[in-house]
Amino acid sequence: MQQHVPQTSNASKSRTPPAPDTKARESAAPEGAEGINGSHAAEVLAPPVAPASAPTTPVELTVNGKNYSMSLDPRTTLLDALRDHLHLTGTKKGCDHGQCGACTVHVNGRRVNSCLCLAANHEGDQITTIEGIGSPENLHPMQASFVECDGYQCGYCTSGQLMSAVALLDEPVGPSDADVREAMSGNLCRCGAYQNIVMAIQAVRGKA
Ligand code: FES
Ligand code: FES
Repeated sequence: MQQHVPQTSNASKSRTPPAPDTKARESAAPEGAEGINGSHAAEVLAPPVAPASAPTTPVELTVNGKNYSMSLDPRTTLLDALRDHLHLTGTKKGCDHGQCGACTVHVNGRRVNSCLCLAANHEGDQITTIEGIGSPENLHPMQASFVECDGYQCGYCTSGQLMSAVALLDEPVGPSDADVREAMSGNLCRCGAYQNIVMAIQAVRGKA
């Protein structure tokens, strides 16, 4: 992995060439001369222009049985729409690259990584988040089993683990612990609570 090596101010000074005088460079360029990219020197040195604000599009989502209307940048992920626009922060952002499973939600009953989905693509779908499967007063059996089996430590991955575990109950997963581990392999836990997570799932499946 590439390492970022901080530079001391002295090192930075010694390695950074002095900034050229803009006017000197512009006047030094012969009239009609072009830079290496075919642009005039004055254009190369022009300050960056602030991008115009992104256009938005109306998006309607159905989350946990409720309908929501939003105006979103079309590039908004389902994860960001849930967290930043609907304030359903039980769904977590870990890697934001489809690698950790912290953002797992259900779309029409199937688990998905919401960081890899565009919100605008899910109009008309039934989206379920961790807020929709149980409450502190009325835990889903899988939530109760995680508590019973001590299936978490810091809890950051837990909502994603639970959403995958609940979806797994309707998937053709074999009976063994190894089958569960394979089916849950998209959900990472930096605390290493895997053994107890498998135990909690198997308890709900009646395979413990
Ligand atoms: S945040 Fe979506 S997979 Fe990691
Ligand atoms: S409980 Fe801490 S990351 Fe899983």
